[in-house]
Amino acid sequence: MRILQITDLHIGEVYEDTFGVDVRKNFVTILEKAQQSAPDHIVITGDLCFQSGDMEIYNWIHDRLESIQIPYSIIAGNHDDSKMLADVFGLRHLMEGEDLFYKLKLNGQDLLYLDTSSDNLSKTQLNWLKSKLSKGSERIIVFMHHPPAHAGVPFMDENYPLKNYQEVQEVLLQSNREIHVFCGHYHVEKTIQMDKLSIYITPSTFFQLDQDSVAFKVDHHDIAYRVLEFGPTDFMTEVTYFKGHQLKKVV
Ligand SMILES: [Fe+2]
Repeated sequence: MRILQITDLHIGEVYEDTFGVDVRKNFVTILEKAQQSAPDHIVITGDLCFQSGDMEIYNWIHDRLESIQIPYSIIAGNHDDSKMLADVFGLRHLMEGEDLFYKLKLNGQDLLYLDTSSDNLSKTQLNWLKSKLSKGSERIIVFMHHPPAHAGVPFMDENYPLKNYQEVQEVLLQSNREIHVFCGHYHVEKTIQMDKLSIYITPSTFFQLDQDSVAFKVDHHDIAYRVLEFGPTDFMTEVTYFKGHQLKKVV
């Protein structure tokens, strides 16, 4: 089973300046590369929109995803509007209150999708996560926009962490199951290992951040996707980079 993860698209309105980066062309490029790699499934892990949820942007992304004819699933990030996103992608039935969260099973593998668009994992979702983790002992894969940990990236850890990351991390660790969590949000490539919990942060299709800087500092403008490949007992993941597109010289 091969799943391809794409994250942090940050598509702006048609004439909006997105720091000089051609975010639409970047997304089209990533989808072309994804198509060549022919995964079984694609997961988009949030921040589809540049600043905030927008119907035109969701419709544009929806049409692009439909056109490549690879099954896909999607969650919201802090620059999204979960309801608007759910409406465009036909997921409204999966919403509970403000949250869009759900479980999929692909080739016998449970995949949990969580909504952290409020920069928090709600009580409802925490309870749902606990109940899912308490049943069985097999490997679990989780997709959520924010990493449930500080990642050693000072600018993001200090300014934009998941507010209740400690609580979420505790629930994941207490289950004592092999859990692989796939996130975005940080615009870096990073893996955090804690006992049987692995947290993978995937680079954005917008720009990548300097991992050591306390202030906001762009590292580079290459874009990436991540591949997860697994069978019943084996598991591997790998990030692949491509050249990003810019509308004008970015400093
Ligand atoms: Fe984000």
